[in-house]
Amino acid sequence: MPSSFIRCLSLAATLAVSSAITISEINSNKYLSPYSGKNVTNVTGIITAKGPSGLWLRSLTPDRHVRTSESIYVFGSTLDANLTVGDSIIVNGKVSEYRSTKDYVYLTELISPVLVKKVSSGNNVKALVIGKDTSDPPTEQFSKLDGGDVFAVPNNVSQISVANPTLEPDKYGMDFWESLSGELVTVRSPRAVAKPNSYGDTWVIGDWGVSGKNGRGGLTMTNKDANPETIIIGTPLDGTVNPKNTKLGDTLSEITGVVTYAFGFYRILPVTAINVTKSPTPLLPSTTKLTSNDKCDGITFGAYNVENLAPTSAHMGAVAAHIVDYLKSPDIMFLQEVQDDNGPTNDAVVSANLTLTTLIQAIASVGGPTYAYATVDPADDQDGGQPGGNIRVAYFYKPSLVRLYKPNAGSSLDANEVLAGPTLKYNPGRIDPTNEAWTASRKPLVAQWEVIAKNGTGAGRFFTVNVHFGSKGGSSSIQGDARPPVNGGLDDRLAQSTLTANFVQSILAEDKNARIITAGDFNEFTFVQPLTTYTSLSSLKDLDEVANVKNTERYTYLFDMSSQQLDHMFVSKAVANKGAKYEHVHINTWVEFAAQISDHDPSVAKLDVCA
Ligand SMILES: *[C@@H]1O[C@H](CO)[C@@H](O)[C@H](O)[C@H]1NC(C)=O
Ligand SMILES: *[C@@H]1O[C@H](CO)[C@@H](O)[C@H](O)[C@H]1NC(C)=O
Ligand SMILES: *[C@@H]1O[C@H](CO)[C@@H](O)[C@H](O)[C@H]1NC(C)=O
Ligand SMILES: *[C@@H]1O[C@H](CO)[C@@H](O)[C@H](O)[C@H]1NC(C)=O
Ligand SMILES: *[C@@H]1O[C@H](CO)[C@@H](O)[C@H](O)[C@H]1NC(C)=O
Ligand SMILES: *[C@@H]1O[C@H](CO)[C@@H](O)[C@H](O)[C@H]1NC(C)=O
Ligand SMILES: *[C@@H]1O[C@H](CO)[C@@H](O)[C@H](O)[C@H]1NC(C)=O
Repeated sequence: MPSSFIRCLSLAATLAVSSAITISEINSNKYLSPYSGKNVTNVTGIITAKGPSGLWLRSLTPDRHVRTSESIYVFGSTLDANLTVGDSIIVNGKVSEYRSTKDYVYLTELISPVLVKKVSSGNNVKALVIGKDTSDPPTEQFSKLDGGDVFAVPNNVSQISVANPTLEPDKYGMDFWESLSGELVTVRSPRAVAKPNSYGDTWVIGDWGVSGKNGRGGLTMTNKDANPETIIIGTPLDGTVNPKNTKLGDTLSEITGVVTYAFGFYRILPVTAINVTKSPTPLLPSTTKLTSNDKCDGITFGAYNVENLAPTSAHMGAVAAHIVDYLKSPDIMFLQEVQDDNGPTNDAVVSANLTLTTLIQAIASVGGPTYAYATVDPADDQDGGQPGGNIRVAYFYKPSLVRLYKPNAGSSLDANEVLAGPTLKYNPGRIDPTNEAWTASRKPLVAQWEVIAKNGTGAGRFFTVNVHFGSKGGSSSIQGDARPPVNGGLDDRLAQSTLTANFVQSILAEDKNARIITAGDFNEFTFVQPLTTYTSLSSLKDLDEVANVKNTERYTYLFDMSSQQLDHMFVSKAVANKGAKYEHVHINTWVEFAAQISDHDPSVAKLDVCA
């Protein structure tokens, strides 16, 4: 414990009551209190903060161990309403471990408090400055129980509430924040590393050491590092409201508040609302630098999850503008989340012709090309997503430059096959659509293309697979009880990865130099099992690696505290070996929530697909 902490406590020490139990004894050096469920008497401390349903008390007799918090939340409005910050009090109460659902971590608190005595008032209360009066928060690991990898499989092999590990605040992020549970702390020079949720809760970092910082000021998730050095700022104690329009990388005024755990996360409840002082510039990212060569040695491929796009979607025009202005109208677009012609109306309509032609017209009307499209309608209500929407993947292509090779569209239940050549039985066609791996999920759409040379002949043939794997719905909190946390839908994505990779292998078995591009929303990180399985079974290369995209710029999505990548391109060796280029355009992650057009960023690649 830094000496400044001891000093600020001694300043306030105005009495020496022989208390049976100190706050640090209640907290202990583990997650769970040894006094849980027991009554305790003569707990002594100074009030450091007050909230709508209780107050926070800091010990007058700290134990000097970094593993034990010296503060505790006293829940209950039965105490004298006139008590105020700076009062030194003695209370009796009951130690309780509280969590609102079984998937969360318990908060140690004192409930049913009874005031024994107010000893003095006006005592000095100073917040602990994180990273100065404490160590820096650990930057990589969350919990010892994760075994070194928060994404390890199998998930949920142990639970904090059962293992109750001894805190190691210098090694594990959750232990760090747990060791400060109940403390009044200050975050200096805070910066937002994500957008607020609908309550205004905002993930931040302070002036401490961090890893994975990206160019915008967020923290990009990398292998085994999901950013435990962050903390979410929750509901202010004084009834003010946090702003909802905070952006990734915004600079904030210094934050002081109490550390607690609620809704699945360690959090600081600030004394007053967050205050944005500065936003990064420019407000919008640059447009892609990747433009088509208009021949097979430089074909551009865009990929964009357009988030439940229907013909009447308010974001239709903005999607079109993104494709034209920011992606520079790629020769082929891999689209995900295209809804049917009447969007979420839950009837038998499955065609997306109107949705796709509406987007094509919107693109043409802002100066883009007149794309053609290729898709296969799903069977009604079988592919998951918003009820009635029948989302599917679809391709746009410039018909003057590329065409389907021997087109022969499959229908919803036709399983595509690789024929000698290699060619496709269905072009385009879906992969094994009746396989149970795709239950309530989008089926990948395989197509074979050829580039049209100036004289009209085919010049360069290649395959594409457009995917939208199952979602992470059902995941447990990354700071929850289950360790490693539950990665929702993992088994589905593993089966989907395997089927898709096997299909890719069947193309390569016909032609080991086949040019194959698989792209879309994989709903997973490259370093996590479903995708490590995908790359090893398919022998495709991660285009971010091939194109040497900076590690910290590999993100297309913001979730919890991390900038993260759910959208990827993987290419076969024949494509990887020829100077591939790739960019993620952070058009949606950078803007405030109300201004985002989709929850995903689009990406663009420029690839040589000549034979
Ligand atoms: C609590 O403090 C009171 C004096 O304020 C004392 O009489 C009592 O014995 C103490 N109880 C315990 C358990 O220490
Ligand atoms: C704890 O204190 C409360 C209130 O004084 C009392 O009702 C309860 O019986 C006590 N519990 C135990 C286990 O002593
Ligand atoms: C709070 O203080 C006021 C004014 O001194 C007093 O009238 C009131 O009784 C006090 N309330 C309690 C709950 O002690
Ligand atoms: C983790 O496993 C435990 C023990 O089987 C179970 O009680 C708990 O519900 C699981 N947690 C999650 C989030 O699945
Ligand atoms: C909010 O930030 C502005 C500067 O942008 C500053 O003048 C003001 O004092 C801050 N308010 C709080 C409550 O920190
Ligand atoms: C949608 O377009 C496809 C191909 O252009 C056509 O075969 C199909 O009949 C159309 N469906 C509807 C419902 O118009
Ligand atoms: C057409 O153009 C391609 C590519 O430039 C060339 O390889 C091919 O020989 C040409 N074919 C004819 C019939 O001119």
